[in-house]
Amino acid sequence: MASATEERICFCLCLFLFLNLSTSTADYTVPAPWPKQFHSVLFLNRSGNLRKTDFWYDWPNGRIFNIFQNQLGILKYDLAWNNRTSFFYTVDPFNSTCEVLHFDVGVLPPNWLHGANYLGQQHSENFLCNVWEKDDFIWYYEDVVTRKPVKWIFHDGMITHVMTFEVGAVLDDAHWQAPVYCFSKAEAEPQQKYMRRTSYLLDFEDAVEGGFSSL
Ligand SMILES: *[C@@H]1O[C@H](CO)[C@@H](O)[C@H](O)[C@H]1NC(C)=O
Ligand SMILES: *[C@@H]1O[C@H](CO)[C@@H](O)[C@H](O)[C@H]1NC(C)=O
Ligand SMILES: *[C@@H]1O[C@H](CO)[C@@H](O)[C@H](O)[C@H]1NC(C)=O
Repeated sequence: MASATEERICFCLCLFLFLNLSTSTADYTVPAPWPKQFHSVLFLNRSGNLRKTDFWYDWPNGRIFNIFQNQLGILKYDLAWNNRTSFFYTVDPFNSTCEVLHFDVGVLPPNWLHGANYLGQQHSENFLCNVWEKDDFIWYYEDVVTRKPVKWIFHDGMITHVMTFEVGAVLDDAHWQAPVYCFSKAEAEPQQKYMRRTSYLLDFEDAVEGGFSSL
């Protein structure tokens, strides 16, 4: 009787120690998965062309939103659905334009960095970061302390600085509605384009006319 209780206590203790150990020795050589929903303000720099982006990531609803402005340029909206349709538009006070684009990739899953190659730690932008390289196209820097992304760099040199990272922030449904002229235009003219969105939706401007460098 006593030994059964002892065994049980021992088992519980062992389980506790095991669980405790396995969480406290979480694998820091793997990037933290992205939260299912977040909002980030990003600053991008491609060869001195600067862009500010409001980035809304909404995996449960299968959508992401890039609201971005090149330096002294116009405000642009890129609303991408997991079915690979993107609405790329401008609104008042700028001209009302819209392009409906089809891409060959959908929204990045939260674990998109899975399998990245760990490169060790580096000091970057005042943070001590764990650094990974993924598929020969991106370097990814994550703050060692908070495990939030600090920046990522594409191999073509474009660098994205993460200025805010609001875990769980969700943009209201009403804001995910593309303007009506997106739909009328798509019907009136067979202007839907099939594009290749490079680098998993994080770097789409090469695919889009009037993108990064032209404004
Ligand atoms: C942007 O990147 C270029 C290198 O491509 C660098 O010379 C420049 O200082 C950067 N500008 C800013 C504001 O980070
Ligand atoms: C993808 O989803 C969006 C939002 O529901 C919709 O407007 C669009 O027509 C869909 N695209 C396709 C090809 O079904
Ligand atoms: C808006 O449209 C007008 C008329 O087509 C054009 O002249 C003007 O350059 C456009 N402005 C922008 C910012 O695209």
